[in-house]
Amino acid sequence: MRTIWLEPDGGAVGIIDQTRLPHDFVAVQLGTLAEAAHAIRAMLVRGAPLIGATAAYGLCLAARADPALPALERAAELLNATRPTAVNLAWAIRRMMTSLRATDTGNRAPAAYAEAARIADEDAAQCEAIGRHGATLIEAIARQRPGRVNLLTHCNAGWLATVDWGTALAPIYVAHERGLDLHVWVDETRPRNQGASLTAWELGRHGVPHTVIADNAGGHLMQHGKVDLVFVGADRVTRHGDVANKIGTYLKALAAHDNGVPFHVAVPSSTIDWALADGVREIPIEERKGNEVAIMTGRTETGDIASVRITPETSPTANPAFDVTPARLVTGLITERGCCAASQAGLHALFPEAA
Ligand code: MRU
Repeated sequence: MRTIWLEPDGGAVGIIDQTRLPHDFVAVQLGTLAEAAHAIRAMLVRGAPLIGATAAYGLCLAARADPALPALERAAELLNATRPTAVNLAWAIRRMMTSLRATDTGNRAPAAYAEAARIADEDAAQCEAIGRHGATLIEAIARQRPGRVNLLTHCNAGWLATVDWGTALAPIYVAHERGLDLHVWVDETRPRNQGASLTAWELGRHGVPHTVIADNAGGHLMQHGKVDLVFVGADRVTRHGDVANKIGTYLKALAAHDNGVPFHVAVPSSTIDWALADGVREIPIEERKGNEVAIMTGRTETGDIASVRITPETSPTANPAFDVTPARLVTGLITERGCCAASQAGLHALFPEAA
């Protein structure tokens, strides 16, 4: 199934409430712009490409309620403010608004649904292509020596983070389907545990061998030759190849660099921000509530979902949600058009129209 779909009434939008995974699988209907904005802000949907697709459908819901341009401009502004780091959000909103501004008021709602469907279909196709290109990197390692290929991934960059397939996990799914013997180390990804809750759930459902590890274990495993490749996704990549991704990605890149482990970043072109050069200085980093650090939620032995505080009541918390890995630590980018160096020259060779 996909992560976002049009309900049978042809208007409401279906999503999976990802805050309930891995313990409960719950689908939710979005009927209004406010519900779509809430789903992004509260992370019922998350992952850069899915955030973009949800914003696109949010504009459909807005157009259904009021197709006048001033109302749609306000809707775009509201959606744009939901989460700042993933550039797919602004990209999808810009694309939708360009189409809607050029459409007569009476035709705007159907035009919005058509454009949102194109955004979703293109994302699924691009992620599938990323899977094919990235699988060749795994196959190359498998050819070099006998035995299992061990990958490490951070956060969730699987089908749940996109419309379908995923970015960093797409090559893993393709290689697994081709019969390669592989195993994935899954970083738990504190504070929201997208690795432990979502990546582990996805890989388990697909029958991909995996092990969940504490975030701090990756460097140790690399030192002991237990990681052949690191694959992560991204929320924004600058034209120079700097990569913003879930907090903790930078530390994995440093450890990979120190241990000579290839570190690849899988991104659809909708995640490349051609306007930015220096990621550390220019990419806005989302600061989320400290509660995400102080309080953990999970299933108790009696089957109830419960939240517990793990910090002293009086200790302050800080919660930067993303970090930036400089291009020099990135072995390569995997895009829908193939693999390239994390550099302006590498990206321009694949996307000459952006040069
Ligand atoms: O805060 P999240 O869960 O939206 O963060 C998601 C990530 O950092 C993913 O790695 C990134 O969006 C790539 S998704 C294909």
